[in-house]
This record gives sequence, C-alpha cells and structure tokens, in this order.
Amino acid sequence: MHDFNYRRGRLFCEDVPLDRIAREVDTPTYIYSHATLMGHYGRLDRAFAPIPHLICYSVKSNSNIAIVHTLAKAGAGLDIVSRGELHRALKAGVSPRRIVFAGVGKTGEEIALAVEKGILFISVESLPELELIERVARARGKVAAIAFRIKPGVDPHTHRYIATGRAENKFGLDLECARAAYARAMAMKHVIPIGIQMHIGSQITDPAPYVRAIRKVLPLIAALRGMGIPLRFFDIGGGLGIVYRDETPATAARFAAQVIPEVAPIRLTLVLEPGRFIAGSAGVLLTKVLYFKKGKSKNFVIVDAAMNDLIRPSLYGAYHDIVPVRTTKARRIVADIVGPVCESGDFLGTGRKIPEPESGDLMAVMGAGAYGFSMSSNYNSRRRAAEVLVRGRRFEIIRARERWEDLTRLERIPEFIR
Ligand code: LLP
Repeated sequence: MHDFNYRRGRLFCEDVPLDRIAREVDTPTYIYSHATLMGHYGRLDRAFAPIPHLICYSVKSNSNIAIVHTLAKAGAGLDIVSRGELHRALKAGVSPRRIVFAGVGKTGEEIALAVEKGILFISVESLPELELIERVARARGKVAAIAFRIKPGVDPHTHRYIATGRAENKFGLDLECARAAYARAMAMKHVIPIGIQMHIGSQITDPAPYVRAIRKVLPLIAALRGMGIPLRFFDIGGGLGIVYRDETPATAARFAAQVIPEVAPIRLTLVLEPGRFIAGSAGVLLTKVLYFKKGKSKNFVIVDAAMNDLIRPSLYGAYHDIVPVRTTKARRIVADIVGPVCESGDFLGTGRKIPEPESGDLMAVMGAGAYGFSMSSNYNSRRRAAEVLVRGRRFEIIRARERWEDLTRLERIPEFIR
C-alpha cells in the first residue's frame, strides 16, 4: 500500500508529479509520501487498539527529522540505537518518555545522555552493560529504567544478515540467563527493570515466528513476576515485512489478530518497534538515465543513482521494483540497471524487462523509504542525495543535496606532509 500512482501515464507521489520534483530538485532524490507514512502507522495503531500499546518507530529505517516528527506527531514513540538517533529524536521534538534504546554496544556517553534525558527504558544486551548503567546512573543520582533484550531462539526465515533472535546472533541475552540478569538488576539501587524486549529479525512476512517467540518468553515473564520484578512493558521488537516483489506479508490486522490473544492475558503494555512497515513503501528513489548501453551478452541502463545511495540490492541481493516515471510505448528490452560506482556489485536491479530508455528518462526505485537514505554513503566521493517530503499538492526538501564542499569539510592536510 502506497501513494505513488500513475495519472495519465505520469507517476505521481500523492498530487505531485515526480518529473516536477526532478526539474526542481534534480536527481538522485529520495521522495517520501506523508499519506503513506501516516496510513501505515495508523493501521498498526488501530490494529492494536484493543490492548495497551506503544508503537516505537524504528529511527534507523529512516532517520530524517521530518519523518520522525511526522510519526511522533501522530502519537508514535521511537526505537533508537545510538546517541546520534537520540539527538535526532530530540531535534524532532519527541518526548524522551516515549523513547526506547536498544543496541549491542552502547557507550558510557550514550548511556549517560539516555539516563539524563529520562527515556522510557534502555534495552540491556549484556551484563557488563548493566553494570555500566548502574555506575552511570549512580554518578548522576538517577534510577535508570531498563528492559533486558532476550534472544528467544527462533528462526524468523529471513535473510541471514537481518535475523537477530537466534542463539548465534550477537544481540541480547540467552533466554536461560535472563532470570539471573533480572535478579542482579533488582539488587542494584540505580537500575529498575520494568520491561522485557526482543527483536527476532527483519522483513518477516509471517506472524508465526512472533507467536513462537512470545510463547517461549511467556513462562519467563511469569517467573519474573514471581520474583517480584515490576514488569510493565513487553517489547516484541520490529521486523514486520512489506511487499517488495511478490511477498504476501501479514497485514497489520492479521498480525494483531495473532499476537493480541497471546499477550493480552499478561496485562503488560505491548511495545512494537516497526521501521520498514511504516517507512518502506512510503519512499522511492528518483533517478535519471545517463546511458543505455547495449552489449553482446547484456544490456545496461546506467543511471545517476548507485549503491552508495541504495545499498540493499548489492548488500542483500534485495529486490526493488524499478519503474519509468512516464509510461512509454517504447519496445521492451531486458537490462541490468546499474549506477556509476566502480564496483561490479553496483546494481539497483538485474535482468529487468523495461521500456527501452533514452538518456534523460526518469525512473523510480520503489520501496526505498526504509534503509535507503539511512544506509547511504559517500563512496566514490558521491554527494548524498536530496530528500523530499510530499503532502497532498505540497512538497519540500527535507534534506538538501550535499554540496561538494561537504565532502572535504572535516578533512585537512597536516603541516608535516606539506
Ligand atoms: N528494533 C530493533 C532492535 C532493530 O534492530 C530493528 C532493525 C528494528 C527494531 C526495526 O526493524 P524493521 O521493523 O525495520 O524490520 N538494513 C536491513 C534491515 C536491518 C534491520 C536492523 N534492525 C535492510 O535493509 O533490510
């Protein structure tokens, strides 16, 4: 579900034609739909309305402060993974009381800021981290609210780089170690364990692994209550999948229908940490054709966006639809759609059947709203793309295209090599 549609052969985002954005902002540019963001957040929020819940949008999926602000204004909390994301959250005007913080390697500095700001809870991923939180909170005369991140040991059937809840993954604590960890936290004066957290992976299209994980954790919750742990939150993480190609992911309603009966009896506030589900199909990467190169064994469409702008195809072999911004009657050809970067792995799509393009034609890489811009880099000294937010007939640049000076802004040539 998204708000990118053709009107008389022209691709629009809501009421704005993408070719207009290309004229005014140039390419490559990320374009996001306000209506799609709100639609996805709203559907999930309504689906869980029968139970107390908090949807903490996962900032890493798309961390632009305009996107974060949009969701927070709609009522979302945030899931953050670093001090940088906390900085963005505060810039976007989000209350720390709605922020949860997971991450396998939080530094003392990051923990200190989270404790000072009084975030909802820190998801603790190791015992040494727990000790550090206690020390940091004690030094500031505070009590830090925490949850332990538990590995429920289920296989979410997704790409191995984005599966996180299995015993061999680096995230969280083994289920068997959890009780001792909570007991240790209870013995501390500056830490209070108020939640339990897990995140089993990403782009999960079936609710079944969530249900399996929840069922593995429920006996632990009962045991912790027996120990007098003042649990208030059960955070089941993010990971809800979307349609990139031909997947049939569970709708918010179906997901909720499976999860609610499992968690309702324990009467904790359910926390969800969706990123992709909210932002994924709310964004496209707009790019321009530089050359169409016919080859002996393969054709290549060389476009002005590359792996530095969108790394998912190169990194995970991820599929993104690539569509023309103007439909044409040109005969169809089969080609790889590649960027200008000096790597054979620099492709946005391979073996695509598309209308034969000409230089200057515009294309949209679909489903690029999550883990698109946020994973982009300056590789090959390419400036990072501009970002635009559309709402109805209006649009605005929410991140300017980097300038050439930005590339070298933090660099210097030391005297001793001159
Ligand atoms: N919560 C935690 C603790 C996470 O680590 C993540 C994602 C999320 C929530 C949000 O997951 P989502 O709902 O977006 O699936 N770069 C990869 C995805 C990596 C996900 C990392 N953690 C990709 O492009 O597919």
